[in-house]
Amino acid sequence: MRILVTDSYEAMSREAAKILAGQIWLWPDTVLGLATGSTPVGMYRELVRLHRDEGLDFSQVTSFNLDEYVGLGREDDQSYQAFMHKQLFDQVNIDVAKTHVPNGKAEDIGAECERYERSIREAGGIDLQVLGIGRNAHIGFNEPDDHFARQTHRVALKESTIRANSRFFEREADVPRYAISMGIGTILKARRILLLANGREKAQAVYDAVLGDITPEHPASILQFHPQAMLILDREAASLLPNV
Ligand code: F6R
Repeated sequence: MRILVTDSYEAMSREAAKILAGQIWLWPDTVLGLATGSTPVGMYRELVRLHRDEGLDFSQVTSFNLDEYVGLGREDDQSYQAFMHKQLFDQVNIDVAKTHVPNGKAEDIGAECERYERSIREAGGIDLQVLGIGRNAHIGFNEPDDHFARQTHRVALKESTIRANSRFFEREADVPRYAISMGIGTILKARRILLLANGREKAQAVYDAVLGDITPEHPASILQFHPQAMLILDREAASLLPNV
């Protein structure tokens, strides 16, 4: 694992955007894996700026998002699809037909999971996967468990995640209880992985991911197996790591 510690959220976001921009400049038809949540918002802002001011061209990029709530679609403000349109897709020249978010409104969620996994395979796999990390070290919606999920699947959200995500909803009761998420196997097949974390509340999860035992109780710890995983942190998220 490579670890880069930056001085601030803005610096973390700029470094992350640089890596994505480099990937797109070198391989214009690259396949990106994308994340939602608070963490990557600054990175998306910087990518939009690079598109606007430096001509970063998204026209041939394909993207696959990590996850979506079951029951929510593009028209719901809290859906991850709506988030991606607002933060990135509507502000750059990406071809919307090449963007993919699991369909939370599919009638048959099991079939949707299989379809999603197949479309990633048919696109040739993910070149660069962006991840955030939950306070319990979840990645995507892969919550602490007794096994690592191999493929895109339906997940029951943990109470702690429902509580954490309720900040995006009017009431905690409105937070969907299920989501569709890429599996740990799906994520690990990406050729490169970039995990971002900022803030003191992520420090324990970062410690468990980097130095803890590799266990499904700390899903991000599996990244220790990946030959091309990089973490970009701010000082607070890195504060429990020795010597950084
Ligand atoms: C989002 C996702 C989640 C978040 C994680 C951190 O697509 O898959 O794993 O990355 O919950 O969320 P924030 O960034 O809001 O702290």
